[in-house]
Amino acid sequence: MHRPDPHSYYDAAQPKARRLRLKLAVDFKAKRIEGEVVLEFGKAFSGPLDLDTKGLEIRTVQVPGHGPIAWELGEADAILGQRLRLDVPPDSQEVVITYRTGAEAMALQWLEPEQTEGKVAPYLFSQCQQIHARTMVPCQDTPIARIAYQAEVTVPEGLTAVMSAGPTGDEPLGDGTHVYRFSMPQPIPSYLLALAVGRLESRELSARARVWAEPETVASAAWEFAGVEDMILKAEALFGAYPWDRYDMLVLPPSFPYGGMENPRMTFLTPTLLAGDRSLVDVVAHELAHSWTGNLVTNASMEHFWLNEGFTVWAERRILRTLHGDDAAALGWAMGQKALEDSLARFKKEPHLTVLRMHLEGIDPDDAFSSIPYEKGARLVAALEQEVGEDRFLRFIRDYMDAFRFTSITTEQFCAFAEAKLPGALEAVNARAYLDQPGLPDTAPAFRSAQLDGLTKLADSWVAGGRPSAQQIAGWKAAELQVYLQKLPRQLTLADCAWLDEHFQLMGRGNHEILVEWLTLAAAADYEPAFPRIREVLLRVGRMKYLRPLYGALGGSPRTRALARAIFAAASPGYHGLSRRVVQSVLEAYSA
Ligand code: BES
Ligand code: ZN
Repeated sequence: MHRPDPHSYYDAAQPKARRLRLKLAVDFKAKRIEGEVVLEFGKAFSGPLDLDTKGLEIRTVQVPGHGPIAWELGEADAILGQRLRLDVPPDSQEVVITYRTGAEAMALQWLEPEQTEGKVAPYLFSQCQQIHARTMVPCQDTPIARIAYQAEVTVPEGLTAVMSAGPTGDEPLGDGTHVYRFSMPQPIPSYLLALAVGRLESRELSARARVWAEPETVASAAWEFAGVEDMILKAEALFGAYPWDRYDMLVLPPSFPYGGMENPRMTFLTPTLLAGDRSLVDVVAHELAHSWTGNLVTNASMEHFWLNEGFTVWAERRILRTLHGDDAAALGWAMGQKALEDSLARFKKEPHLTVLRMHLEGIDPDDAFSSIPYEKGARLVAALEQEVGEDRFLRFIRDYMDAFRFTSITTEQFCAFAEAKLPGALEAVNARAYLDQPGLPDTAPAFRSAQLDGLTKLADSWVAGGRPSAQQIAGWKAAELQVYLQKLPRQLTLADCAWLDEHFQLMGRGNHEILVEWLTLAAAADYEPAFPRIREVLLRVGRMKYLRPLYGALGGSPRTRALARAIFAAASPGYHGLSRRVVQSVLEAYSA
């Protein structure tokens, strides 16, 4: 027995499924999916087969031509769930499992109509990364076992289903339901399985890109992301032909717990990106970049998550630089630096979670999640780029994608490849310090620009009375204001808050990065005029990136702590399970 992924019961001595055929019936009343999955192995085998499940009710397990076979569910582990061991008879090519999802399936959020924009129909979406696919489908839930898939999804008539796959047809079944068919011919890691069902409409953005959203938001979504084809072209010029045919996007309801999720052929996005001024499209650049870094070349397990996210942050800023220039990229790196410092502070007592090559046996990957694999990882990639020069590094990146396309790899495999192609470079940048040592090496690249230096200097002068001029205030773009706010002292006075509020009109901002940065400062200052807006945002938005700092900042005084607890009590039923967990941990850390 050899279990290469600490977060999966997958046994490398057993065969890998090559393809899944799924039939999913979405039952909004019961808040369950009735499922049938056929795991195709592409060759005959027999013996034990271990799959991952969590909360699933297994009904039947069969081998075609043979009938029911023996199976057994192991003990429930709080992180991994339950091993499903099948006893596969000789000469089997595939197994068929029928099952039902559990009431607490972490991959799924079932929304009431009131939680959607239109407020007339329910909504379902999945989020399988990191290890939640096993709450939706019994499978080898590890990125090492890549799978193609096809699916038939039955939903109530009037609702539309989309998946991380190409649509291959749909029809009414005449019984009040409608079936949608999909095919993902390329092998993907299980965490990229994705499904959403709701009242959806789409708008074409280019010959290969469209955006899906509820009818109420689809026009503003189409406007916000109108530039996506230009982004795809820029990304292709850097990283080679787009490998997934179409690049479609889905704008979800506001409880979606992430900014974006790189589900292939159907990026999932938070509606908080709809700022009204296209100022948050860097998240699209990030998810698009995952089409190469992450989806094409994938981390072999969550211990190597930096291979996904570090490369993608670097790629995202590379795209941003080609689109908007050096100053914009420098601001991106500055925002990243802030996120990195916050995460390093959060994990002060857990330095083992600040290395890139992680050891996660017994650790829930959602608990290990932070900006560190993103930003420390991106800094290692950038250090390598600076070491060997941009042109050579870009050639290396293209070679790397060619060599490992549609495979899942470890940090060691990356290092061996880098050493072969760029001899000495890893050592020259002291890669070991990034990979295996906590914190950020002193030698990490710093990204500066005159514009960034100006913002830093101005923010640093706040306590001494330095304030931006009316001209500056009028001229700043969203990213500049965001960086300026991030660089202000964390503890402001009530007068400081009133000044900022008045001069920047912060309360009504559509850009949630700015809005939440401001509300976080206001919360920490116990600035009462901001309380209604804080309540509104926390009741509506489930994006964890915003919940953590905002609830965190409310921990500073008895009055704001009481506010936070009252808001959470009201908001919690509408939060995604992941978001609820994060807020609970923040509230538990409050002093009494
Ligand atoms: N793949 C991640 C989201 C994710 C990470 C989901 C870990 C589950 C577990 C996605 O690509 C991402 O990084 N999203 C960021 C966007 C940002 C870095 C531009 C987010 O959600 O904020
Ligand atoms: Zn990412």
